[in-house]
Amino acid sequence: MSRLLTFLITVLLFLGCKKDVSHTVEEFNTRGLITEKAMVVSARKEASQIGTEILKLGGNAFDAMMATEMALAVAYPYAGNLGGGGFLVYRLADGKKGALDYREKAPLAATKDMYLDKKGNVIQDLSTVGSMAVGIPGTVAGIFEAQERFGRLEISQILKPVINLARYGYIITEKQALRIAHYDSMIRAVNGKEILYNNNLKAGDKLINLELAATLQRIAEHGRDEFYKGETGQRLVKYLQSKGSIITLEDLEKYEAKWRDPISFQYDDLIITSMSPPSSGGICLSQIMKMAEPFDLKDYGHNSLKTIQVLVEAEKRAYADRSFYLGDPDFVDIPIETLTSDVYLQNRMKGFSFDKPTAVDSISHGNIVGYESDETTHYSIVDQFGNAIAVTTTLNGGYGSKLFVDDLGFFLNNEMDDFSSKPGEPNYYGLIGAEANSIVPEKRMLSSMTPTIVEKNGEFYMSLGTPGGSTIITSVLQTILNVHEFQLTMQQAVNAPRFHNQWLPDEIRMEPHVFDKKIIQQLKDLGYTINETKSPIIGIVDGILMLEDGTLEGGADKRGDDTAVGF
Ligand code: GLY
Repeated sequence: MSRLLTFLITVLLFLGCKKDVSHTVEEFNTRGLITEKAMVVSARKEASQIGTEILKLGGNAFDAMMATEMALAVAYPYAGNLGGGGFLVYRLADGKKGALDYREKAPLAATKDMYLDKKGNVIQDLSTVGSMAVGIPGTVAGIFEAQERFGRLEISQILKPVINLARYGYIITEKQALRIAHYDSMIRAVNGKEILYNNNLKAGDKLINLELAATLQRIAEHGRDEFYKGETGQRLVKYLQSKGSIITLEDLEKYEAKWRDPISFQYDDLIITSMSPPSSGGICLSQIMKMAEPFDLKDYGHNSLKTIQVLVEAEKRAYADRSFYLGDPDFVDIPIETLTSDVYLQNRMKGFSFDKPTAVDSISHGNIVGYESDETTHYSIVDQFGNAIAVTTTLNGGYGSKLFVDDLGFFLNNEMDDFSSKPGEPNYYGLIGAEANSIVPEKRMLSSMTPTIVEKNGEFYMSLGTPGGSTIITSVLQTILNVHEFQLTMQQAVNAPRFHNQWLPDEIRMEPHVFDKKIIQQLKDLGYTINETKSPIIGIVDGILMLEDGTLEGGADKRGDDTAVGF
């Protein structure tokens, strides 16, 4: 939250001013960075700078993707990774769109009940920390697949600045020092010792990761297979097995990133393209937006009572569908056309009324309870050739499984927890899944990641996404609406206060102290339960908007260290 915005809202609330928050947002008149040709927005300045450097060398968005993603792995190990996975949604300069799935998958030796004890109860922590939590990493396969198909530069050229970042170090930020301190005891417990990232690190310290520099150097020399078949892969498997993992070299060798057809839908004069299963992002986003489309949100106003009601009720219904129907499309049949059809969605909204909330038990399917995390990361890139990408990548939890491969210099994911360990029972984050997301060898676990590209009048308009677990979808939704319906700038749109509803628990989560108190009271009077305490923040959105004069505006969320760089 921008200090200026917080200040303005606090002053207005304090003075008992009658103005609503939409007015204050208007007064918070800032645009993000404006550039003429190209831009990278990511969770770290260093990553955005390196991505931009690659563009300046003549690389395109896919070359910059490889550089930015790996720079995040170096400077933002909380979520940036070699040991995790992600999704790419792209729009080429000629208007062609597509998506790449480099989500982790279950090991060959995985079983449906692998996280259950003899009595059939979920074994605490087994799917969230340590070696059994780790899914087969997809990130290295993903960045190579995208770069090989669309990139222009040599791998050694792209990875050179990243290797230097690991070799010569970067400065720990305040937010980073706090995060490392927060996770320190867990990281020590899982690794049985102090690792490179430990609570002796203070803001302003320089962090050098020579092992990661060496890993990246080998990947630069030997390519993708270095990670899946070569020395790095062999060392990784040996390490994992020494920690009790069921992952084998065959698992690594069999890993493939997969090109997918993204989900595209129309909202007013926008065409919105987002990630298809195994992410729930695109389907849920399209469901919510199509359910909200018949309502005049612009007239109701930004974060007004009626806008919040419409979006909350649409969210409720989409999230109720999510866990019942969605999973890896290579393993389950998903009725995508029906779930996103106008007829189905109009029917879903039939019970909606401005007079009172729709009772959650009258909405069938899906059982999702509290899930919040800012432990994923998103970056958006537009290049000087007119290509645009949106990429969201994750280790799942902060520092993933907390398992750190010392001599390779990176953390491993705990993405296995995104499966439904026991249909009907919540996982660590409170997600309850159904059979569609049960564990099967080589299956990909369901995600909420929502990297999204928006077009207007047939041209590129916006690239955006965010971390935030199940709040990812609603954060992307509100950011698009903030620009399209409420005419906020890109920077205002990502900074604006956010709320979230996911059917169960039966509550609206709102960022504390930033919403109009009168509206909160009106929502309570109507029968809504408001939770302003659980989520200090909802999402950290990064985006790029094409302005009418063809320049680009960056939106780098002030909730993180996020930064836009470009030229
Ligand atoms: N691990 C977070 C997600 O994929 O949604």
